[in-house]
Amino acid sequence: MNVVRTVADLRAAIKRARNEGKRIGFVPTMGNLHDGHIALVRKAGQRADFVVASIFVNPLQFGPNEDLASYPRTLAADQDKLFEAGCHLLFAPNVEEMYPNGQGLQTIVSVPGVSEGLCGGSRPGHFDGVSTVVSKLFNMVQPDLAVFGEKDFQQLAVIRTMVRDLNMPVQIIGEPIVRAADGLALSSRNGYLSPAERESAPALYRTLKQMAEALRNGEQDYAALLRQGREALEAAGMRPDYLEIRSASDLQPATPGTRERIILAAAFLGKTRLIDNLQVDSGPSHP
Ligand code: PAF
Repeated sequence: MNVVRTVADLRAAIKRARNEGKRIGFVPTMGNLHDGHIALVRKAGQRADFVVASIFVNPLQFGPNEDLASYPRTLAADQDKLFEAGCHLLFAPNVEEMYPNGQGLQTIVSVPGVSEGLCGGSRPGHFDGVSTVVSKLFNMVQPDLAVFGEKDFQQLAVIRTMVRDLNMPVQIIGEPIVRAADGLALSSRNGYLSPAERESAPALYRTLKQMAEALRNGEQDYAALLRQGREALEAAGMRPDYLEIRSASDLQPATPGTRERIILAAAFLGKTRLIDNLQVDSGPSHP
């Protein structure tokens, strides 16, 4: 696996692969890779001939009181995992390479609608940071396809909308959430949890599962169900940030008539903010 740090080296390596007629698959990450990321890399390898991953902890998508400074940076271990998963090229730029004119003068890509509410409501500016860095990375890599995890379901919806609205020639593939044996969705932020918090954390997925079952059994009183869900999270020592039942296709609030529903949650456990989601109805939901 080749590791490049600059856009010029990235473009040269990709040009070589393109000249060999290879189809390029791309997996953008912020590093500290776990099995969820590895599933994205493997999916890219199934759908493309040449797999490019990026590792960049993007300051533009962190709020002033968020965990930018403490976000885990584990490049050496990440490189080994990427190599094992079949990645061909790793792009690991520094902040100056990505934002040479400073973050304040950076052109911003802002996706309206789907970026509002949920994580967008709790983390102002977050999705502008994500859509901006992902569009820059897409322009640098120019992949045929890119793979994103469904754990960040709203992020996936924002990226699909951006690609559609800006006519970007990239196929976006969503990959299902990878969970620990006890149900906790894998996340780099799980590493912040104390042993006691880690024991409580599966309550988030447990609550989503109970709510999904109630919905599948015909529960129509969404307000009562959400209240019970919040109480269950609080009973497990969490502070719910949001808990919502939405349409999986456009993330609008669900009504009992909505066909493809998804439950989305964010909750603080101590200082750690966990997110998770569960699709209630099977179907080809494209966030
Ligand atoms: O999901 C992530 O890790 C990040 O938001 C992404 C897509 C790599 C953009 O920085």
